[in-house]
Amino acid sequence: MLITGGAGFIGSNFVYYTLKNRPEYQITVIDKLTYAGNPDNLTPVLDKINFVTGDICDQELMDKLVADNDVVVHFAAESHNDNSLQNPRPFLDSNIIGTYTILEAIRKHGKRLHHISTDEVYGDLELDDPNRFTENTPYNPSSPYSSTKAGSDLLVRAWVRSFGVQATISNCSNNYGPYQHVEKFIPRQITEILEGRKPRLYGAGENVRDWIHTEDHSSAVLAILEKGRLGETYLIGADGEKNNKEVIELILKDMNKDPSDYEHVTDRPGHDMRYAIDSTKLRNELGWMPKFTNFEEGLKSTIDWYTNNEAWWKPQKEATEAKYQKAGH
Ligand code: NAD
Ligand code: DAU
Repeated sequence: MLITGGAGFIGSNFVYYTLKNRPEYQITVIDKLTYAGNPDNLTPVLDKINFVTGDICDQELMDKLVADNDVVVHFAAESHNDNSLQNPRPFLDSNIIGTYTILEAIRKHGKRLHHISTDEVYGDLELDDPNRFTENTPYNPSSPYSSTKAGSDLLVRAWVRSFGVQATISNCSNNYGPYQHVEKFIPRQITEILEGRKPRLYGAGENVRDWIHTEDHSSAVLAILEKGRLGETYLIGADGEKNNKEVIELILKDMNKDPSDYEHVTDRPGHDMRYAIDSTKLRNELGWMPKFTNFEEGLKSTIDWYTNNEAWWKPQKEATEAKYQKAGH
């Protein structure tokens, strides 16, 4: 199995999950080690996998790696909306050209691809909309990040239809858990509190995200790889809708602080209001169920992980906050 982006947050969690649950798989990770890729994420298992530092846009390299493996699970991407609003170009390179490069290698060697994508390709919902996203919701992305992910999904669909490549796609909601970069909402707030500062809420904080523990994302991806129908898209979600204000208040409470002790900062331009996933297809067709259904428990163990792993996040923290300060958040 070739795993792209395996030194990032969700990719590294997927490597651990697969090694634990499918010890017979031989795993190769390819990762460019951008600011978001941390080789330390995989240190404990480096003797059990083959790790290649490289760019998914490198056609020769991808051709060789795809030829040497049966299955490709494609996580590698520029993943942060705020960065895409400051400098969109790397998003076009890694998300569009990178996916195209992988598709061409998959087509040439007749291999199987699972493409990892996001619920953000569907745009956003009103707070009072009774509907949730399904596999049939029209694409309507808002940010440079989500539009490049939408573009990558459409490339996969076109390669399936025009060239008959063996591929599946999953669109998942917001992940949380260990090894998530401190630029993202939950780790940023936990580490701000650990550094003695206040959490930062964009705008009024009414925006809703549909939280899923990253281990549940991993189990869903493995289910789709092993039982999913080729050419199909599956939405992954765990019924975890919460608004940002509620999440910050929970983090403060669980860290024994006053739940109202946070700051409102400038809102994100074009900020999506609400994401919500209907994962009925995945549950009914493949029998998948999430395990981490108690968000507060999952959040508490994530707080513990960041509290106990300061050496992991500290080196990224200053540069991340400097970027935010420049952007006014
Ligand atoms: P991340 O930013 O933590 O990790 C991305 C990894 O990809 C990093 O290790 C980085 O070095 C690597 N990478 C980037 N460009 C590369 C390139 N050109 N060549 C090789 N490696 C490259 O991101 P994440 O949060 O783990 O997200 C992983 C995937 O899951 C992405 O495709 C993202 O769109 C998708 N996704 C994320 C979420 C979420 O909540 N984080 C939810 C749904 C889907
Ligand atoms: O929905 C899936 C997507 O979830 C993935 O495709 C993306 O890769 C992933 O980054 C995530 O995107 P979001 O933009 O939803 O996540 P982020 O962690 O950046 O922000 C979550 C919410 O919190 C969002 O409404 C913005 C808000 N926010 C964020 C930060 C960093 C704050 O209020 N304060 C903050 O400091």
